[in-house]
Amino acid sequence: MWSLVLFVVIGLLGSESLVEAGNCTIVAKGNLIFPKDFNFGVATSAYQIEGGWNADGKGVSIWDEYTHNNPDRIKDRTNGDSAAESYRLFDLDLKALKDLGVKHYRFSIAWTRIFPDGFVHSKNQKGIDYYNSVINKLLANGIEPMVTVYHWDLPVGIQKFGGFSNSLIIEQFSDYAEELYKLFGDRVKTWITFNEPHQICKSGYGSEKTPPMVGAPGVGDYICFTNLLKAHGAAYRLYQDKFAKKQKGQVGITLDIWMVFSETNNKTDIDRAMHYNLGLLAYPIFSKTGDFPPILLKEIEKSSFDEGRKRSRLPSLGEYWTKVIRGSSDFMGLNYYTSRFIKPATEPEGENPSTERDYNYQSQPDKNWPRAKSDWLYCIPEGLEYLLKYVRDEYDNVEVKITENGWSDDGELNDDKRIKYYQSHIQAVLNAINDGCNVNSYSAWSLVDNFEWNQGYTEKFGLYSVNMKSPKRERIPKKSAIYYKKLIATRSVPNGL
Ligand code: NOJ
Repeated sequence: MWSLVLFVVIGLLGSESLVEAGNCTIVAKGNLIFPKDFNFGVATSAYQIEGGWNADGKGVSIWDEYTHNNPDRIKDRTNGDSAAESYRLFDLDLKALKDLGVKHYRFSIAWTRIFPDGFVHSKNQKGIDYYNSVINKLLANGIEPMVTVYHWDLPVGIQKFGGFSNSLIIEQFSDYAEELYKLFGDRVKTWITFNEPHQICKSGYGSEKTPPMVGAPGVGDYICFTNLLKAHGAAYRLYQDKFAKKQKGQVGITLDIWMVFSETNNKTDIDRAMHYNLGLLAYPIFSKTGDFPPILLKEIEKSSFDEGRKRSRLPSLGEYWTKVIRGSSDFMGLNYYTSRFIKPATEPEGENPSTERDYNYQSQPDKNWPRAKSDWLYCIPEGLEYLLKYVRDEYDNVEVKITENGWSDDGELNDDKRIKYYQSHIQAVLNAINDGCNVNSYSAWSLVDNFEWNQGYTEKFGLYSVNMKSPKRERIPKKSAIYYKKLIATRSVPNGL
């Protein structure tokens, strides 16, 4: 059954619901040109590209510490110490951005470059100078900065106090965000508080896959989600109270989501699964009522009592925080890469307790879906179209920005599969827009090949290759860079080069 080529997505498309999938293509529906106000860009993150891990007074982040102390946890035993050297060689990135013709550049700020121990009294002027120069150069070249405040590189000085396990993170993070608004908000008009809460909380707190390796499944992850949502809400309110009027920017959050298809054709399964993956973060912020989705609160409370606990592993956010968090985003940032088929688990899934067991679906790719170098990444453009339609219907057509989307391989310059991936996924976005979805931005991941976390440099996502053997780290455009440039210039989806 997993190998169905024709499958049904119910509840989202009604009678249009039979779609052909499995070959990484999608049929164009409607207008072939993107609306005028739609922006194309590319995305990166500080730890993955900057290098200069201890340059000019930078402090140590949990990723610096983790890669140095556990080289065996990184597939090729590398780290981000020098990476693409963007700290030293930003002008090479700038040139690539200009060549592509992007309207915006999404990058993240390394918290430790500006505040070495994480607290805002520990200011490092050289770090501030660096980001000022990046922002000014972008603007001088007509490229809007889109800034991620936190892309996983927590200062060790903050981790000492528990990171996202401790509610202190609310003030630690919002103090940091406030300083960024003060320093750069006159020029930065798009802020993303957090990148991919699922990765932060599930990998780092639910499991031990990434730093801080807490490994408390079904408990640590929910504590992290809760504190992260509160920190996000606090940072959003702060912007509204002190900066919005003058700076007139937008503040949002980037959520990571794999779209789900129901193998058994069951709408209840899709709804429930979407509440568990997207809704866990999106519902508290974007729904009419706020707080976690009622089904999660109910089910997880029940499981917690069944486990003999005194209270739920996922308690309600409470009246005060529900109010702070509800409506605390001017847009929904979405990182979409891939999809899965789901069906209710026959045996309980995962450890007891764990988010997998709470979710309780078997989740699989179809065996016909083309796979990237990354073992989790399959090309399913339909998933992106359905996701956008799901968000349109479930969350009152909130403004959406696709903040990441991309394909990994071995780094070849003739990257036809990446072109096919971009072609079909960007077409999926256009189809969704033609169907009334409020999406206004797309960022390809990534500008350059970079440090892919536990996979080191073994999985490449860049439009540009980086000569890692040379201290000059030359950027070399791949075929996909030429394709993306053409797409941006024509504001349509070319059929190949
Ligand atoms: C999402 C993350 O934000 C980014 O850091 C990562 O490199 C890509 N996914 C690809 O895995």
